Amino acid sequence: MDILEVIHNDHQAILQIINALLDERLVLPRQRRAAFNDIKNELTPHMEAEEVHYYQFLLDTTLERETVLYALEQHEMMRKMMVFSESLSVQDERWLPRVKLFSKLIQDHIEHEEGPLFKESRRIMDAELRAVLAQEFEKLKESFKEKV
Ligand SMILES: [Fe+2]
Ligand SMILES: [Fe+2]
Repeated sequence: MDILEVIHNDHQAILQIINALLDERLVLPRQRRAAFNDIKNELTPHMEAEEVHYYQFLLDTTLERETVLYALEQHEMMRKMMVFSESLSVQDERWLPRVKLFSKLIQDHIEHEEGPLFKESRRIMDAELRAVLAQEFEKLKESFKEKV
């Protein structure tokens, strides 16, 4: 495996959950809560693992620090938005618009990662390193999931 592949696969899963979350037919409170928990349980370990086993290497190596720092700011916004979304009752009429905004942040971030960040990663990381980082990434994500 390759770290970029692993991250991309996670993104595919996250985007699928977003589609489920924004499904207009999702009206029952317990369905909404379950879909929101799914996104939270997928996104949180993913971001943690990226920060430790992907971004840190980039920050130490790249000259394009701003591209990495921008992604980290997006992570912070997503964390804040996750808490903000959770603070609202799923029955509140603002719930869906708020969750749509949260989803937009996630989608923009995925575009940023798979665009400029992946491009820079392909330039500065060789296949061997990408394989090692993939393993470390998966390990950390699993241990994080066990803790949750
Ligand atoms: Fe990601
Ligand atoms: Fe990310």
